[in-house]
Amino acid sequence: LGRWDVSAEESASIKTLRVAADYLKKHDIPVAFPTETVYGLGADATRSAAVKGIYAAKGRPSDNPLIIHVSDLEMLRDILSPPTETNGTGNGSREERIPPIYKPLIERFWPGPLTILLPNPTPSKLAPEVTAGLPSFGARMPASPLALSLIKLTGAPLAAPSANASTKPSPTTAEHVLEDLDGRIELILDGGSCQVGVESTVVDGLCDPPVILRPGGVGIDELRRCPGWENVGKAYKDQSEAGKSAPRAPGMKYKHYSPKARVVLYEATMEGCQKGVRLQDIDDHVQGQSAAQTDGTGVSAVQVGIIRTRHWQPAGGLRCSEFKKRETVNVGRSLEKQGDIELDVQEAELYGSAEGACIRKVMDVSIGKDTRSIAQGLFSALRELDRRGADIIFVEGTVDDKDIGAAVMNRLRKAASQIRS
Ligand code: TXA
Ligand code: MG
Repeated sequence: LGRWDVSAEESASIKTLRVAADYLKKHDIPVAFPTETVYGLGADATRSAAVKGIYAAKGRPSDNPLIIHVSDLEMLRDILSPPTETNGTGNGSREERIPPIYKPLIERFWPGPLTILLPNPTPSKLAPEVTAGLPSFGARMPASPLALSLIKLTGAPLAAPSANASTKPSPTTAEHVLEDLDGRIELILDGGSCQVGVESTVVDGLCDPPVILRPGGVGIDELRRCPGWENVGKAYKDQSEAGKSAPRAPGMKYKHYSPKARVVLYEATMEGCQKGVRLQDIDDHVQGQSAAQTDGTGVSAVQVGIIRTRHWQPAGGLRCSEFKKRETVNVGRSLEKQGDIELDVQEAELYGSAEGACIRKVMDVSIGKDTRSIAQGLFSALRELDRRGADIIFVEGTVDDKDIGAAVMNRLRKAASQIRS
């Protein structure tokens, strides 16, 4: 860490980091650690057995490659140079192997939420499981000091996917990791809540023009301001639903970023969705579901979650009271604190009406108005509604599809359509 005049608290956390680093060197079970985007599930990227441990703990298909996390550029250059060079002449001069196209990006965004694709040399120091057979690997230098220190102390690049169970929303607190991976891993470094809240932007600069493979913490406009990246394209599947009148509902394909509940997304550009989720919309969607789901007394018992973004911010009165046809039994409000993330949750218990859809409970979550706090709270809100037993979650996707908003809308579209990335 290069600094020894540390306080007792700091030295305690350095000790913890050393324990984690030692564990990573000796064991084949991954360690969860915080980054500025989401929590990662890390293993020494040079050891096959350790990398296999990641796929096993996550239940991740082995054809999905992992991102390599480095603490400095030397570590990255070391991966890019063939293994024989390290025992070479020792004259210190080494050819620059990081492609020049990435220079402005590295200068501008590292350490930070950007992953770049690089050619994997043959033979490679990386375990073959990391790249899932691809000729390239993804690398990033995370901004979290905890992550950087862990990599440095381990002395090896860490392969790390997000530390969620496969298909679940990515974890943005240590508690989220525990929810998904309890019993599957032994160590979680708790660094509080993640600042960014959505994963890194993944770019491929090895093709011409360069492309974005996944939108994330670094926006397309920021990328376009860098020389060589003015014409960067989008290579991810993520059509906006602009012009369509019906909200996006689940399809049949693979799940991604999905809570247990069904997610229905309302996009701002959709006809009639400007005012956010309306009672009628909820009724329409819940009809079918409530028929299939009844409690012990024969009363349908669907629990509805709503995630609010920009519109319909409940001011004072509970929005659930709009359910005029129904009798509200019980109303409560709580502020759920998850690290820096605050979720404003309002709950109302309702009786279903004879002719309408029967809703037992409505849980109304507010994750803030500005795009950064929406990004930070999004996965937390989806998980919180799952924890409270929502069967169906309506999300107001009223976020501008630019900068980090593009990442928010991409994750929401995936959660709603269940199309794999
Ligand atoms: O913010 C993040 O990137 C987080 C934190 C932990 O760093 N990590 C993360 O990893 O989101 P994961 O495994 O959940 O997502 C990695 C993404 C996947 O979409 C994967 O397909 C892509 O990066 N990827 C990795 N290596 C690749 C490669 N060689 N070629 C194409 N895509 C690659
Ligand atoms: Mg992931």
